[in-house]
Amino acid sequence: MAKKIDVVGINVLKQNGAKVDEITKLLVQNASVEFTAYYYFTLLRAHCTGMEGEGIKGVIEDARLEDLSHFESCIERIHQLGGTLPIDATDFIKMSGCEFLQLPRNKTDLKSILEKCLKAEQGAIVNWNKMCNLTLGKDPTTFDIAKDILAEEIEHEAWFLELLHGRPSGHMRRKYSGERPHTRKHSRSLDHL
Ligand SMILES: [Fe+2]
Ligand SMILES: [Fe+2]
Repeated sequence: MAKKIDVVGINVLKQNGAKVDEITKLLVQNASVEFTAYYYFTLLRAHCTGMEGEGIKGVIEDARLEDLSHFESCIERIHQLGGTLPIDATDFIKMSGCEFLQLPRNKTDLKSILEKCLKAEQGAIVNWNKMCNLTLGKDPTTFDIAKDILAEEIEHEAWFLELLHGRPSGHMRRKYSGERPHTRKHSRSLDHL
């Protein structure tokens, strides 16, 4: 039988009252949403055609690369907590429940594309807010990741609300796609971006 390893980094969380199994499960699930959204945003971005589509492409690109950053931000923490990603990649994709992000029937309809993007961001806000509530005061390391991702999701929501409904977001454009101002420190694997 394998020797039981004493992981103090997990023990202290349990002493803090953290539900480590629940946190790990949600972290894997949220990672799957980010990964799948990154894929679907790639497809949605490619279908923003025409003169109007060109500007929207840039906004979707900023959100898309930050979803990749959100996926990367989860990986190390999942393993520190004793978790791992599913062996079968299709299981991982299905776990996300992101089928709603597939291209609209009219593939280049910009309004439908933006509505899908907005729905994705709003779902992500709920997911990461849940993680914040689960870890606040109990698991500071996971909380730090969750609140930084949440901050970017709130920005993304505001971008798409502005594009769809003219509600000002007050945002400054990213200096470059992949800037990820809040999650940069959690996804250093992407530092060449
Ligand atoms: Fe995200
Ligand atoms: Fe996002």
